[in-house]
Amino acid sequence: MKTVLVTGAYGQLGVACTNYLKLNFNVISSGRQAEGMGIKLDITDCDSIEHAQNEFHPDIILNLAAMTNVDGCEIDSQLAKSVNVDGVKNLCNGFCGHFIQISTDYVFDGLSGPYGEADEVNPLSVYGRTKLEAEDWLSANHSQTTILRSNVVYGYTERTDASFVKWVIDSLSNKKGIAVVDDQWNNPTWIESLTDIIGRLMKEEVTGLYHYGGYDYMNRFEFAQLIANVFDLDISLISPISTRDLNQLANRPLKSGLKTEKIQSALGIIPNSVETCLQEIRKQLSE
Ligand SMILES: NC(=O)c1ccc[n+]([C@@H]2O[C@H](COP(=O)([O-])OP(=O)(O)OC[C@H]3O[C@@H](n4cnc5c(N)ncnc54)[C@H](OP(=O)(O)O)[C@@H]3O)[C@@H](O)[C@H]2O)c1
Repeated sequence: MKTVLVTGAYGQLGVACTNYLKLNFNVISSGRQAEGMGIKLDITDCDSIEHAQNEFHPDIILNLAAMTNVDGCEIDSQLAKSVNVDGVKNLCNGFCGHFIQISTDYVFDGLSGPYGEADEVNPLSVYGRTKLEAEDWLSANHSQTTILRSNVVYGYTERTDASFVKWVIDSLSNKKGIAVVDDQWNNPTWIESLTDIIGRLMKEEVTGLYHYGGYDYMNRFEFAQLIANVFDLDISLISPISTRDLNQLANRPLKSGLKTEKIQSALGIIPNSVETCLQEIRKQLSE
């Protein structure tokens, strides 16, 4: 059985991934704080990385560790670079196996999405620029690399402050009105579908640049309305707001999203509709 070192294993995607991957791989979970059976590994700390590599000899590194707070990256761009770029370089130092990097549609400017793998990149934010710099470095320096870009990853998870689905459900359940942007367009991606794709890329040792996202292209306001409908919550509590009026620190790509034809033909898959995935989340929560 191959050994996979998962970094950022206690984040939103990390928890879903490690549980799933354990079925087929020897998984070493790692995070800034050791939890449960995992190890403590800060990807900015070269000594810890060397120690982990010498102890576990991973065949694969799945890098889910990142500074993901997009506005936070604007405030502390040095930290963003140190985690999102230098952290990747540190992990590859002395590592010759399969490196899997999860990247983002924020490498695009959002003027003409959804985007294919060959489309021109032009990030608008520090987060997007650091994720792109890591992509470029990997492509130039680590031949056995898979870069998988995704967008608006969702699930009902307690693991992050940034779970959109949880925020919508919890707010509406508590009769709290929410304002949601109606001019940011994506194809939201269910975390369990993304996890399945990562597992397949690993098993089939697929390398290169791929995009993966859900089947439906929608704006965030429509996504919130769909969540309310599937969970039988009061849709009238959701009001639209423009990105400009929301006044977030970092610029967001507006007409973004990812085309998935390349990965569909590589793996023989068809992404699920957002409604199907939300229904499945509802079913899981009621079990
Ligand atoms: N969520 C999305 O919509 C989305 C979309 C496209 C791509 N991605 C990418 O998917 C990956 C996983 O994201 P996510 O949604 O799971 O985000 P997340 O919940 O914020 O998880 C990121 C994890 O990285 C850890 N981390 C931060 N700095 C670290 C460091 N120096 N050393 C080790 N671990 C560190 C965090 O630990 P702490 O909790 O201790 O900070 C956290 O557990 C990221 O690469 C992200 O860029 C996410």
